[in-house]
Amino acid sequence: MIAKQNMKLKSLAVLALAGLLSACMSTAPQLGPDASAWSDYLSWYKVTPEPETGDPTGFLGSVHDGSNAFRQIYVNSLGQGVNQGTQNLPYPEGTILLKESFNNEAALQARRSPDLTLMIKLASGQSPETGDWEYVMGADGNRRGSGDSGLGAFCRDCHLFAAAHDYNFINSAFYERNQ
Ligand code: HEC
Repeated sequence: MIAKQNMKLKSLAVLALAGLLSACMSTAPQLGPDASAWSDYLSWYKVTPEPETGDPTGFLGSVHDGSNAFRQIYVNSLGQGVNQGTQNLPYPEGTILLKESFNNEAALQARRSPDLTLMIKLASGQSPETGDWEYVMGADGNRRGSGDSGLGAFCRDCHLFAAAHDYNFINSAFYERNQ
């Protein structure tokens, strides 16, 4: 039991470090659209009916601002059908999944400076290493991860746990399993 807890603490420490390291990881050249493609994301379908906090999937660790953060996920119209389960996987090219993370509930209420992370579905074969997703950090879209870049590998290595749903953790299937 104690050994197990130590393991858990150890893996949390590794994840915390990984979170810090992600700030200086190697990025990849931009493959998907630029930031204007998500400037109107507040009008997209909101995947999370309520802001989520804690660690509902059990895979979060300390990334995405950690389990104290309040997070909301959106999907653009291209990916909405797959997200809602009315269309088959995989997500079509051009799908954008966007997550906003607020440090705490007060920041959420005030909509104060959310951190944005995004996944953009590329054309088939464009980045097989990352399941043809381009991982993006930040609203300005300047930090991109695909191919064998450090950032692409960092995001992919955890989203791999959701590989059965095209690397996407939260969607209607997730809510159906957990209701
Ligand atoms: C240690 C695991 C882990 C890492 C690393 C990680 N994520 Fe996630 N991500 C999650 C989990 C778990 C969720 C599910 C939502 C939640 O709990 O907030 C998620 C959700 C998302 C979502 C919403 C779509 C979905 O799958 O639910 C996006 C977009 C996203 N992450 C982007 C990224 C990007 C970009 C990176 C790299 C900078 C990254 N993630 C790194 C665990 C991770």
